[in-house]
Formats: sequence, C-alpha cells, structure tokens
Amino acid sequence: MKRKLCLVVAVGASLATPALTEVAPSEVYFAEGKVETSLTGMQGDAANGVKVMTTAGLGNCVACHTIAALPDVQFPGDIAPPLDGVADRWTEAELRGIVANAKMTFEGSFMPAFYKTEGFIRPGGGYTGKAPEGDLPPILTGQEIEDVVAFLLTLKE
Ligand code: HEC
Repeated sequence: MKRKLCLVVAVGASLATPALTEVAPSEVYFAEGKVETSLTGMQGDAANGVKVMTTAGLGNCVACHTIAALPDVQFPGDIAPPLDGVADRWTEAELRGIVANAKMTFEGSFMPAFYKTEGFIRPGGGYTGKAPEGDLPPILTGQEIEDVVAFLLTLKE
C-alpha cells in the first residue's frame, strides 16, 4: 500500500513540474525572428501538435488558418494564410519563432504570441479597473510549442 502511494505522489510531481531544461518565455532568444533550439531540449510530438492546433483552449490555430492535411477538422476562419506547405517556406527555427511570438517575424501581426508572459496590454482593466498582478502565463507550454512545430514541419507540398 505504501509503495503505491509513493508512486502516485511521484507521478503527480512530475506532471506539475515543467521540464528542467525548458527555456522560460522571457529568456527565449529571437535571432531575426528565428529561435534555433528546442525550447525544451526535446523533439516535438506532431500528433499532439495537431491536438494543440485544433483545440479552442490551446493553440486554436484553426480559428484563423486552414490546413488541407486535416480534412476532418472544422475551420471556423480563414483570415490568415493557409498553413499548407509552410515547411517549404520556413525553416524549423523560423517556424518555432513564429509560433512562440509571430510579432518578431511579422511586425504588428494580430496572430497571438503563444509563448510570452510580459508586455501584454493587460486584460482585466476593462472589467475590474485593476491590472492583474505579475506576468500572465504563456498560452502554450514550451513542449506544446515544440509539438506544434513538429507538425508544421510535416506540411510540405
Ligand atoms: C487570430 C488569428 C491567428 C491565429 C489564432 C493564429 N495565427 Fe498564424 N498567422 C496569422 C496571420 C494574420 C498570419 C500572417 C502573417 C501576418 O501578417 O500577421 C499568420 C502567419 C502564420 C504562419 C506563417 C504562414 C506563412 O505561410 O507564411 C505560421 C506558420 C502560423 N501563422 C502558424 C500558426 C500556428 C501554428 C497557430 C496556432 C498555434 C497560429 N498560427 C494561430 C493569424 C493567426
């Protein structure tokens, strides 16, 4: 019984702790929009990348972009360029930079910065009159960014 309990505690702890090597959003180095190395030091999982991109509470990329490689997905919006063939147009480092913070590549873009915690126009003010304290959490984790990049790299024409 005691052993089982320890196992549960260990699993819980590993889920709550981000990968030790994860680069914090404020520490990401953009070289002309490019982010050369994995944010987690790990390879992304393309299948999970699809989930992140098509889930409203996560990346929700499909709200703005269509992707022909995902015929079963509903695309509520197409106000941004289709993502078909992005791996032919951009390198891995460029795609990682675009997903982490598109504004570093496309000045003034309205694509959300998915890996950013500071410098936002604070939400909250309009509702409560008070700005929330401290930094906001990033929309996606470093590993979710890597998973999205892994899937984008499969989109060749
Ligand atoms: C609110 C709309 C919106 C959302 C949501 C959004 N994007 Fe974008 N994205 C854009 C726009 C607009 C552009 C075109 C660049 C520009 O002018 O801002 C763009 C450009 C891109 C490009 C470059 C495309 C090319 O062919 O040049 C990639 C890659 C990309 N987005 C990936 C993503 C991913 C991955 C997600 C989800 C994690 C996402 N976008 C979510 C609006 C969006």
